[in-house]
Amino acid sequence: MGKTIGEYQEEIVEAEKQLQLLKDQFVLLQRAVVEQRPAPNASKEILDLTSENIKLQHRLNILNRAIAEESNKSPQLSNKMESLQDNLNDIFSTAITSAFPDLVDPPIVIALANKFGDYQCNSAMPIANLYKQMGKKLSPRDIANKIVEKLPSSPIIERVEIAGAGFLNIFINKSFGVNTLSTIFEKGVQPPNIDKKCRVLVDFSSPNIAKEMHVGHLRSTIIGESICRLLEFLGHDVLRINHVGDWGTQFGMLIAHLKDKFPDYLTKSPPISDLQAFYKESKARFDQDPEFKKQAYACVVKLQSFEPDYHKAWELICNVSRQEFQKIYDRLEIKITERGESFYQKRMEDIVKELNDNGYLEEDDGRKIMWGEQNVGIPLTICKSDGGFTYDTSDMAAIKQRLHEDKCDWIAYVTDAGQATHFETIFKCARRAGILKSHHRVDHVGFGVVLGEDKKKFKTRSGDTVRLIDLLDEGLKRALDKLQEKGRHEILTPEELKAAQESVAYGCIKYADLCHNRNHEYVFSFDKMLEDKGNTAVYLLYAYTRIRSIARNANYSPEKIKEISKTCQISVDHEKEWKLVKVLLRFPDVLIKITKDLCLHHLCEFIYEISSTFTEFYDSCYCVEKDSSGDIVKVNDGRMLLTEATALIMAQCFDILGLKPVSKM
Ligand code: ARG
Repeated sequence: MGKTIGEYQEEIVEAEKQLQLLKDQFVLLQRAVVEQRPAPNASKEILDLTSENIKLQHRLNILNRAIAEESNKSPQLSNKMESLQDNLNDIFSTAITSAFPDLVDPPIVIALANKFGDYQCNSAMPIANLYKQMGKKLSPRDIANKIVEKLPSSPIIERVEIAGAGFLNIFINKSFGVNTLSTIFEKGVQPPNIDKKCRVLVDFSSPNIAKEMHVGHLRSTIIGESICRLLEFLGHDVLRINHVGDWGTQFGMLIAHLKDKFPDYLTKSPPISDLQAFYKESKARFDQDPEFKKQAYACVVKLQSFEPDYHKAWELICNVSRQEFQKIYDRLEIKITERGESFYQKRMEDIVKELNDNGYLEEDDGRKIMWGEQNVGIPLTICKSDGGFTYDTSDMAAIKQRLHEDKCDWIAYVTDAGQATHFETIFKCARRAGILKSHHRVDHVGFGVVLGEDKKKFKTRSGDTVRLIDLLDEGLKRALDKLQEKGRHEILTPEELKAAQESVAYGCIKYADLCHNRNHEYVFSFDKMLEDKGNTAVYLLYAYTRIRSIARNANYSPEKIKEISKTCQISVDHEKEWKLVKVLLRFPDVLIKITKDLCLHHLCEFIYEISSTFTEFYDSCYCVEKDSSGDIVKVNDGRMLLTEATALIMAQCFDILGLKPVSKM
C-alpha cells in the first residue's frame, strides 16, 4: 500500500518547515562569512562555518529534491490540475541550489516562453551577476549547463535546451500534459491546491442609504462578487459583507423630516418611496431652518442611543433603500450580507475607549485623532469635536470586529482608488494598536473611475448621475437589438431569446468592467462592450456556444464524452492540438496569480486566449467529418475530448467572472 495524499502532504509540510529552518540558519552563516570577507583566510571560525554550511546545504538539497519529487508525483496523486509554474519552480530550485551551494536564495526565474520552448528558466544571467559581485567569473552559458546537469528527472519535462547567452528552454512532456488535463473528465474542473484555506471577508458594493447607488458602487459590486467567486472556488471560507453607510448625521435630518411630514409613520406606510426627493427636502430644511437643524441633531442622539421610535423611523428609511439595492443585486445575481456602519455603534464606543486608554489618541482642535505614522500623511479622526464618530471610527471598529470576533485571516476592501489613503491609514493604525498582526492579510482593492464616452465623469446627458436600474434596462434593450440584428429572434424560442438577452446584457456590463486593469479608469460604452469581435463578452459567449454546439451536432452528450474519456486520449499529434492543451494547462497558474494581485483582467485575457487558440485548432483540425449530403461520416474522439475540456474550463472561468453562458444564442 502506498501512502495517502494526506500523508504525502503532511510530509511535505514537515520538510518545508525544516527547509525553512535550514535556510534561515544558512542565511545567518552566509552573512557571517560575507561580513568577514576582508580577511577570508584569517579565522578558524570561518572554516568551521563553511564546512557546517556545506553540510547544511547538502541536507537542504536532499530535502529540496524530496519536495520536488513529491510535488511531481502529486498531479497524479491528487487528481487535480496542478500549477505547472509551481512544479517547474520546485524542479529548477532543486537543480540550482545543488549546482550552486554557495549562493543564498538564488534567483529562480521561470517564465512562459513566447517562441522557443514552452517555458523558460532565466536564472543564468542573474546568477552570473551574483558571482560577479562576489568576484568570481562564470559565464551564463556555463551556469546554464551546470543547472541542466543537476536537473532531477521529472515526468513534467520532455527536454531542456540551452539557447543564446544562457537561456533554458523547457519543453513540456505531452503525456504529462494530456494526463493532467484529462483529470477534468472524471472530477470536473478542480481548483489548484492552495497553501492554506483562509477565512476571507470581502467588503464590497457598500452603497449609502438614502442616496442613489452609483456606477462606482456598480464597479465595486462586480469586482467584489468576482473575487468572492474566485476565493470560494479555491476553497476559502468567504464572508461577503455589504458595509452600507446607514449611520451618521444625515439620518437625524431624515428622521426629523419624517416625524414632521408623517407623524403616523409608526402605524401607516410613509410616503418616502422616492427617497431621493425626500432626502433633498430634508437637506433643504436642514440648511435653511435653524430650528429644524436642532431637531435633526437631537434625532441623531436619540437614534444612536437606540430609542425605539427613532430606531423604527430609521429602519423604515433603510428599508426603502434596501429594496432598491436588492433589485440591482437580484438582476446581477449578487450574493451579499448587509452589515452596515450602524452594526458597529457599541464597538465604536469600545474602540475609542481602547485607543484612548492606550494613549494612541491626540487632541487636535477639539477632535481626537490618531496617526498611522507620526506626522506622516493624514491622521484618522476618531472622535469629532461634538463627540460624534466618523467613517474612520467605523472602519477601526470594523477591522477589529472582523479580525478578532469573526476571526478572519484576510480582509479585502473593494472601493474606488480615491479611498486608498483612508485604508492605508486604517491598516497602519490597526497595526500600531496591535489589532492587525503580521499573519493577517489586508488588501485595499482599489479601482479607477468610470468615464462616459466623452472621457468625462459618467453622467446622463442632462448631467445627472446615471441610475443603475436605467443602465441595466438600457443594457437589456441594446442586447436585444444586437440579437435581432443577427436574426436570432427568428431561430430561438421566446424563452431562449430572453435568456440570451439577459446573458448578453449583464454579461457585457460585468465583463467590460472586469477585463480592464481595475487600477485604471475605464470608459463605459455599450457600443464597445456589445461588439462581437475582440475581447468582449459577446465574442466569448458566442465562441463558447459554438464550441458547445460541436458536440451537440455530433450527438455527443456529456455522458458519452465521459465514457469515451475512459478509453480514448485527448489528441495532441497536431501542433494546434498541443498548443491548445498547453494554454488550458495554465488555468491553475492564472488563478494563483489573481489571488496575489486581485486583478481579474488576467482571467479575461486567459479566456480570450483560450477562445482564439481554439479557433486556430478548429480551423486546421476536423472534429466531425460530414459527406456532401451533410451526414456524419466520422467523429474524431480525441478532438471531441479536447473540445469538451476547452468548454469545461471556459465555463469555469465564466462562472468566476459571474457570466452566464446559455446553450443557444
Ligand atoms: N459606503 C462607502 C462609500 O460609498 C464604502 C464603504 C466601503 N467599506 C468600508 N469598510 N469603508 O464610499
